[in-house]
Amino acid sequence: MLKIGLTGGIACGKTTVTLLFQEHNVPIIDADVIAHELVTVGQPALSSISELFGERVIKSDGSLNRTILRDIIFNNSEEKHKLERLLHPLIHQTILNQVSLLTSPYCIICIPLLFETKWSHLVDRVLVIDCPIETQVSRLQQRDGMSLEVINSIISSQVSRSYRLDHADDLINNTNTQDVLAEDVKKLHNLYVTKSNC
Ligand SMILES: Nc1ncnc2c1ncn2[C@@H]1O[C@H](COP(=O)(O)OP(=O)(O)OP(=O)(O)O)[C@@H](O)[C@H]1O
Ligand SMILES: [Mg+2]
Repeated sequence: MLKIGLTGGIACGKTTVTLLFQEHNVPIIDADVIAHELVTVGQPALSSISELFGERVIKSDGSLNRTILRDIIFNNSEEKHKLERLLHPLIHQTILNQVSLLTSPYCIICIPLLFETKWSHLVDRVLVIDCPIETQVSRLQQRDGMSLEVINSIISSQVSRSYRLDHADDLINNTNTQDVLAEDVKKLHNLYVTKSNC
């Protein structure tokens, strides 16, 4: 099965594109969804997080206090690495498990930090969703109401736009309307179906 790694900078439109592929009945494996599910109540990773960062990261209902955890790791690379050392191997293994269950010609594996985690070996082709930094900033301000300081810190923690462009097999320039985007996805879908039959 052909495995397409979908990646891109924050708010470039990865989830939006993923949903468009889903409309073509393409199976989607999403590292963000996996990361979210791994730390739900009852999951062993949640207990490990509590052991690593203390009871303060657990709400009174037993669920993860994402705001406090985000504050702990924000601008603190040691704490951030602690969390990554716990979660990344689990996410990596879950992706492998999910791929092994698929029987379709191709699948999309959305991995926002594909380059940062050096997980390109998980996929056969890399599809980069791209837009200018100014567009990322305005989408983040609109979607999440983030401050410029937080936005800049996140963008500078990711690989550069030019690195992503240099390492893309396929590229979607997501600066147009949703209709144009849907057309671009359709063309790539046809390409991937053809390639998966080769
Ligand atoms: N072509 C577009 N035109 C207008 N708005 C768009 C377009 N593509 C995406 N958006 C909007 O930009 C925001 C970011 O898109 P999306 O959530 O898909 O990005 P993402 O890469 O998944 O972000 P994250 O890195 O946070 O997961 C959303 O509010 C989305 O609706
Ligand atoms: Mg997303």
